[in-house]
Amino acid sequence: SWTMANYAKTAIDTIRKTIGTGNVVLALSGGVDSSVAAALISKAVGSQLTCIFVDHGLLRKNEGDEVETAFKNSGMKFIRVDASDRFLGKLKGVSEPERKRKIIGEEFIRVFEEEGRKIGTVDYLAQGTIYPDVIESGAGDAAVIKSHHNVGGLPAVVDFKGLIEPLRNLFKDEVRELGAELGLPEYLVWRQPFPGPGLAIRVMGEITTEKLAVLRDADAIFREEIANAGLNRSINQYFAVLTSNRTVGVMGDFRTYDYTLALRGVTTTDFMTADWARIPYDVLDKISSRIVNEVDHINRIVYDITSKPPATIEWE
Ligand code: XMP
Repeated sequence: SWTMANYAKTAIDTIRKTIGTGNVVLALSGGVDSSVAAALISKAVGSQLTCIFVDHGLLRKNEGDEVETAFKNSGMKFIRVDASDRFLGKLKGVSEPERKRKIIGEEFIRVFEEEGRKIGTVDYLAQGTIYPDVIESGAGDAAVIKSHHNVGGLPAVVDFKGLIEPLRNLFKDEVRELGAELGLPEYLVWRQPFPGPGLAIRVMGEITTEKLAVLRDADAIFREEIANAGLNRSINQYFAVLTSNRTVGVMGDFRTYDYTLALRGVTTTDFMTADWARIPYDVLDKISSRIVNEVDHINRIVYDITSKPPATIEWE
């Protein structure tokens, strides 16, 4: 009979056979998918696996340090690369979403290859690609909606023998179940998904360090209040988006002309379709007043009430 325990066992055997005595590197983002992939591959080949965490400077507040702490203590080989200057440099002046994805995807591979070379011989590349990534990236006959950068991005270096993608057939809920089966901590298993390009696709238009800082602070308040309200598990993905719209407001006796922040929260099982989350008005109210009071340069907050389709979950 099909159980997640059996699935894990079979997957571990297959990975072990494929990798043999070779070395494997995995791009760890700290998200559920790459963390579960890391745990699975680590169970199969132990220290033959090296996890590389590329910090592209587009993570949420405190996220880089949290990932480092979690994995440094896990016993896996773990390398953190601070590449934020490189990424932000490449993204300067870029405002089109698919170009952002392409640049981030390419730079990611470059940084990753450089780190891989430092390790020495790397035989396999592992990725936490899951089934919806495969579909939405236009594999098979599906239309290309957004080019998720963690698919098909096999680095063009000859030393890699192949790609290990042990989650390729799984939906998100199955990945979480597998993570629990593998004994990953609950906070990691239940972490909401976070896109590879990170905050780059949540700052509309051109990305600046100032805008990233504003978005980080606002997003942290949103997440904190959702957790305080006990909604962090029932809303499957929730985040703030910094629009490029500025509107007129009033603060005390003064006119302001600042940014509009959008809040997005969705309920979904597979992230291929989604409904906007019915966050209670009093929770939204608290979030709104906290953000405008605590974060500079935001004077208006809107809540996104579109489902997917016709909208997508992310704004870019
Ligand atoms: P959309 O916006 O397409 O998002 O409805 C569906 C799910 O995919 C995530 N997403 C991405 N993940 N690279 C990723 O790794 C990307 O470029 C990307 N774009 C969207 C999104 O956060 C949601 O969970």
